[in-house]
Amino acid sequence: MRADYLRIVARVAAPLKAAARAHPRLNVALWNAQYRLGIWDYLDDARASGSEVLALVDKHSPHGRILDLGCGTSENLRLVPGTYAHYHGVDVSTEAIARARRVGRPSATFEAADIVTYATSERYDAILLREVLYYLPRECVADLLVRLASMLAPGGRIFVQLTGQPDLRVTVETAGLEVVDVVVEAARSRRHTTVFLVLEDLERHRRRYQGAS
Ligand SMILES: C[S@@+](CC[C@H](N)C(=O)[O-])C[C@H]1O[C@@H](n2cnc3c(N)ncnc32)[C@H](O)[C@@H]1O
Repeated sequence: MRADYLRIVARVAAPLKAAARAHPRLNVALWNAQYRLGIWDYLDDARASGSEVLALVDKHSPHGRILDLGCGTSENLRLVPGTYAHYHGVDVSTEAIARARRVGRPSATFEAADIVTYATSERYDAILLREVLYYLPRECVADLLVRLASMLAPGGRIFVQLTGQPDLRVTVETAGLEVVDVVVEAARSRRHTTVFLVLEDLERHRRRYQGAS
C-alpha cells in the first residue's frame, strides 16, 4: 500500500522535479518535501547503497579526504572511523543535511549547497557522486565532472554510482576523465543495473607522465 502510494507520488513528482532543477529554491523545497514524506528513508539502510562505493574508495583512495556530493542523510555510507582523514557531505536538501549531522559521524562536516555551482578551495582524495547525477540538468554533467577534477588532490579520484542510466554513463566517460575501474552490479534490482565508475583526471595524469619523462 505504502509502496503504491510512493510510486504514485514519484510519478506525479517527476515532471515537477524536472522543472524545478532550473530553479534553485524550488529544487531545495522539493527535495526537503521528499525527505519529509519519507520517500528516501529506504536509503538509510546500508544495503541500499554505500558498501560497494566504500570498497572502491578503500581500494583506490584509502585513508583520504572524502567529499560526498548529494550525500543525502549519508547514513548508508558506513565509513569506519580511522579509515578516512575527513568526510565532507554536501546536499541541496537542508532537511537531509540536518539528518546527516545527527548521524554523529566523527571527523565529518556537512554543508547545504547546490553541487551544480559548488566551489571550494579544498582538495580531496575521493569525490563521491552516489545516485545523484540523474537529478542535475543533463547539459551540466560533463562540465561538473571536469570542474570536480580540479578539486582532486594529486592522485585523487571521482567515484560515480549510477543505476539504470547507460546514457549517463556515456556522458561520464566522455567528460575527458579516464575510467580506471568499473564495477557492474546486476543484482541490485530486477530491472536495473548499477554501475560504479572510478574516474581520474586526465590532465593530472598527463602532468605526472610528463614529470616522469
Ligand atoms: C537518490 S538521493 C541519493 C543520496 C545518497 N547519495 C545515497 O546514495 O544514498 C539524491 C540526493 O541528491 C541530492 N541532490 C539532488 N540535486 C542536487 C543538487 N543540485 N545539489 C546537491 N544535491 C542534490 C538530493 O537532495 C538527494 O539527497
